[in-house]
Amino acid sequence: MLAQKIRENIYWVGAIDWSLRNFHGYQTTRGSSYNAYLIIDEKITLIDNVKKKFTNEMLSRISSVINPKKIDIIISNHGEPDHSGSLLKMIELAPQAKIYSSSPNGVKILNLLYGDLPIIPVKNNETLSIGKRTLRFIHSPMVHWPDNMVTYLENEKILFSNDIFGQHLATSNRFDYEFDLSIALYEAKKYYANIVWPYSSQAFKIADKLKELKIEMIATSHGLIWEKHISDILNLYKSMISYEKKDKAVIVYDTMWGSTEVIAKTIAETFQNSNIMVTLYNVNDTHDSDIVSDIFDSKFLAVGSSTLNNNMLPTIASLLCYLKGLGPKDMKFISFGSYGWGGQSVELIDKELEEMHLERLISPIKIQYAPKEEQIKLIANDIYNAINK
Ligand code: FEO
Repeated sequence: MLAQKIRENIYWVGAIDWSLRNFHGYQTTRGSSYNAYLIIDEKITLIDNVKKKFTNEMLSRISSVINPKKIDIIISNHGEPDHSGSLLKMIELAPQAKIYSSSPNGVKILNLLYGDLPIIPVKNNETLSIGKRTLRFIHSPMVHWPDNMVTYLENEKILFSNDIFGQHLATSNRFDYEFDLSIALYEAKKYYANIVWPYSSQAFKIADKLKELKIEMIATSHGLIWEKHISDILNLYKSMISYEKKDKAVIVYDTMWGSTEVIAKTIAETFQNSNIMVTLYNVNDTHDSDIVSDIFDSKFLAVGSSTLNNNMLPTIASLLCYLKGLGPKDMKFISFGSYGWGGQSVELIDKELEEMHLERLISPIKIQYAPKEEQIKLIANDIYNAINK
């Protein structure tokens, strides 16, 4: 396997995970890649590495340029094993290599994962000369773990951004201009919504630090490298970090015998009649990670379930559990559902959404067995009035 040149003496030497479909609960429909980069300078430098099972793929790509035993410096921007899984192998092959990671968390996490290693801690904004080139380390804690940092190559103005600006995307193309931009941006948004969303305030701080840099290339650790469309990805991040909302309602439900679905469709129709864009999901048809990507920038969220055994349906419970972890905010909600006798599902959904500090748009909608025509009209009327008051 070959390295791919991204600039003179700078190579992509990562691995493509074509068959990845689950990244701890996040459905990665398009696979992913683990991007590592090799810089040939007076000190041969490897930036990040790959998931353990792809170590040979990375070594093969490095070997197409130099003998991996000659690596002098290993930078670990982030200890999560998709970027550090080959570290022990690299140490075995190149025991002279100096390993750099953020202080104190990068050092701590690598030691906790792999045993006591002689990691050199780097402070925020510290620089390292590797010959003709200089690397600058900028800490980016919690985007995605406490240890994250990005590495800025001052000479070529390349930002090795690790998880930030990444997309779970397996492709033989390396650059943004070689791929469908709308898919790349969708996957970047999905990545943010499922991984970075809980840490938006930290991402905001990093974005502020990065403003000071002149960036000509963003070499991410997943998916495509941003070069021709840097302004597109930066604008997308700007809107996501500042939590810009769309005039949009997401309605999610599960239904036992169709009654909750009738309510869901009534809610959808009412939003539509108020000129608010709607997406309607039966939770069984779409993965939670795609649904939350849509919820992420919506002003309204409606969640419904029939009552089953004094509870909501497990599919909806699972979605709410996942959503709660992401820390949604600035959204108005509706809880709804049909029931036979107990009717607990709606109160339980309502409580969950309230605990997420979202704002209730109207009182919970509970219908016993099947909704009647006059009940449908009342629901539509209540929602319409609440939206348009
Ligand atoms: Fe791609 Fe947080 O690891």
